[in-house]
Amino acid sequence: MNIILLGPPGAGKGTQAARLVAKHGMRQLSTGDMLRAAVKAQTPVGLEAKAVMDRGELVSDAIVSALIDEELASMGADTGAIFDGYPRTGAQAEALDALLAKHSRKLDHVIELEVNEDALVERITGRFTCANCGEGYHDTFKQPKAEGVCDKCGSTEFKRRPDDNEETVRTRMTEYRAKTAPILPIYDARGIVTRIDGMADIDEVSESIERVLAS
Ligand code: AP5
Ligand code: MG
Ligand code: ZN
Repeated sequence: MNIILLGPPGAGKGTQAARLVAKHGMRQLSTGDMLRAAVKAQTPVGLEAKAVMDRGELVSDAIVSALIDEELASMGADTGAIFDGYPRTGAQAEALDALLAKHSRKLDHVIELEVNEDALVERITGRFTCANCGEGYHDTFKQPKAEGVCDKCGSTEFKRRPDDNEETVRTRMTEYRAKTAPILPIYDARGIVTRIDGMADIDEVSESIERVLAS
């Protein structure tokens, strides 16, 4: 099974992808996570991407499609792929079709998380993750069970993304509206898009996604 999770910044793509990985053993292909790893490792891609990401703009199509190609090449044929934050432009959507064909895969579902943009700023500016295992948390919606201690691994170190400030979030949303939302009709024409209410509880969103995968 190969699926795309589509939605603006803070829609819950990463949250839901992590659950699908845990439940179905699929692989999460998040170009945002790959780029952040490249920035941290100071690779040539990371050095080029850092300033663009800090502004909330899109990194070049060639860079992100090459990252996806590498990931797909490293995956077993029977491991499902969850595309999280990719494709984000018409050119990336075309590149993905070519990459899926190259790696003998077929796109099963595009799941659009529909959200209210005003709520997203609060979601994003409250977000933090475990510095050790990457588990996601939120100041208001998902605090660790014991204050300051990761539920999953017990670490007491947490981090926040440098692009999770209000100004950058607004730019990320503008980019989504201008460049990413317009690719939906490509998938609508193929009849593979399901729209889900991304404002529902995290568990309810997961249940809706499970129903799509079972359909
Ligand atoms: P990327 O990392 O993809 O960021 P994004 O698309 O802006 O999305 P986010 O990761 O912020 O949100 P999410 O939907 O994953 O939400 P989450 O589950 O964390 O990209 C970052 C940058 O990299 C881009 O700006 C660009 O520069 C570059 N880039 C990446 N891919 C690229 C590409 N393909 N092309 C070009 N450039 C690219 O949830 C958010 C918060 O809300 C969490 O705290 C969570 O706990 C909470 N939450 C989640 N669901 C719910 C719910 N249902 N109810 C209440 N709270 C919830
Ligand atoms: Mg994410
Ligand atoms: Zn942890």
